[in-house]
Amino acid sequence: MKIVILHGSPKGEKSVTMQYVKFIQKKNPHHEYILHNVSKRIKQLEKNEDLFNGIIEDINSSDGIIWSFPVYTCFVPAQYLRFIELIGEKKSAKAFKNKYTVAISTSIHFYDYTAHRYINAVCDDLDMNYAGFYSAEMDDLLNAKERKNLLKFAGHFFNSIKNKIHCLKKNQPLEQNKFNFLVEDPTRKVDSKNKKIVVITDNDDSGSKIGKMIQRFTSSFNKSPNVINLNDIDIKGGCLGCMECGYDNQCAYKDDFISFYNSKVIASDIIIFAFELNGRMFSSKWKEYFDRRFFYNHVPEMKGKQLGILISGEVSTYLYDFLQGISEFQQTNLTEIVTDGCSDSEVLNNDIQQLAENSVSFANSGYIKPHTFLGVGSKKIFRDEVFGKLRFVFQADHRFYRKHGFYDFPHTQYKKRLFISFMMLITAIPAIRKLFYGKIKTLLYAPHEKSVDKY
Ligand SMILES: Cc1cc2nc3c(=O)[nH]c(=O)nc-3n(C[C@H](O)[C@H](O)[C@H](O)COP(=O)(O)O)c2cc1C
Repeated sequence: MKIVILHGSPKGEKSVTMQYVKFIQKKNPHHEYILHNVSKRIKQLEKNEDLFNGIIEDINSSDGIIWSFPVYTCFVPAQYLRFIELIGEKKSAKAFKNKYTVAISTSIHFYDYTAHRYINAVCDDLDMNYAGFYSAEMDDLLNAKERKNLLKFAGHFFNSIKNKIHCLKKNQPLEQNKFNFLVEDPTRKVDSKNKKIVVITDNDDSGSKIGKMIQRFTSSFNKSPNVINLNDIDIKGGCLGCMECGYDNQCAYKDDFISFYNSKVIASDIIIFAFELNGRMFSSKWKEYFDRRFFYNHVPEMKGKQLGILISGEVSTYLYDFLQGISEFQQTNLTEIVTDGCSDSEVLNNDIQQLAENSVSFANSGYIKPHTFLGVGSKKIFRDEVFGKLRFVFQADHRFYRKHGFYDFPHTQYKKRLFISFMMLITAIPAIRKLFYGKIKTLLYAPHEKSVDKY
């Protein structure tokens, strides 16, 4: 069988994910494998028609396709997203139709499912036979049990192709909300006082729906907020995954991204992301923004800010999770996500007005809503990873985490540890255990009741 590998790491062959694919290849040498480093060569693929068409010809004549990629900022790297955009722009979707496919990623399991749900949706849109995904922890290949598991997955893939097994589709075709947005002048203007507001977008068309949503948002204020277009900033490319920033937050690129990020984004109190979805996802330009923000590594540099989001297009659950997830990880308050998925112009005008009002009101009161699983989980994953095996890579994170008390493992809370050990010991005695579990409800709520009485 002829298998095409569309590899998504900007590191090309020197990538962790690539070793997983090579392992499958080594253990299944009877198949033919054709590797395309699409992320590493994205700039050439954008310009060179023949190069791109060569890949499409390989897809056309293949029996199966492997999407292999690292998870970068909860999705695929910006360069890979750009390749997926090119499939649409160059009208090459037909080549993928009915092809059997799987996705393989490596990551530290931080929002790996969002990346895979997105790729699953892309495959469904391309009318492929999507036979599943394999989300490996980056070091899984070092473990014999995991290597066996990977080969079982590969076996399932080859078997799916050979026996033409049925693959179910999880994503319905997208439905665009088509109502024409009529922008109304606000009946009251929001006084932004001394709060700095910035709207970041990649939209170049003021007459588009997202263009009008931005206009409605900015007109809600007595003083129009700053609107910055990502296309106007000198950003040389997506994150290269070199991790040079891990030591002291210095990025290998010499372009304007860092000064833009520090002087416009971090310096604002209220930040609004505004984008139109390109099918299932925001543009690769936006992904470039999220990936390049990685020079701050795993610290919440936007802590305490209000984050509002304007979106035109059908928002998938994984995109909602991503937006809420990055907001909570960054310790911002996700003021609201306003989309044009509502019924009509009146509702959308009111939604945008409310976003403007809440942003300022929450910024003034300093309100940050409590974190859900998405934020709490993120913090614990990074705490463990940075303290553990990634400490020497992400030394800037380590310094920050130590200084700001992020290392809140139980092993530093000696009093609590002593108490827990004591309780474990005495509850081994049946009579005490009975007494303890009989009083557990009271023990749990009593301290909170005291707080209610006291404050
Ligand atoms: C810029 C950047 C962003 C990353 N974002 C994530 C992430 O969101 N979730 C995650 O689990 N791992 C993340 N990682 C870790 C990589 O997914 C992991 O190291 C992967 O094995 C790299 O594979 P590669 O060598 O094939 O590029 C990120 C790494 C980099 C460099």
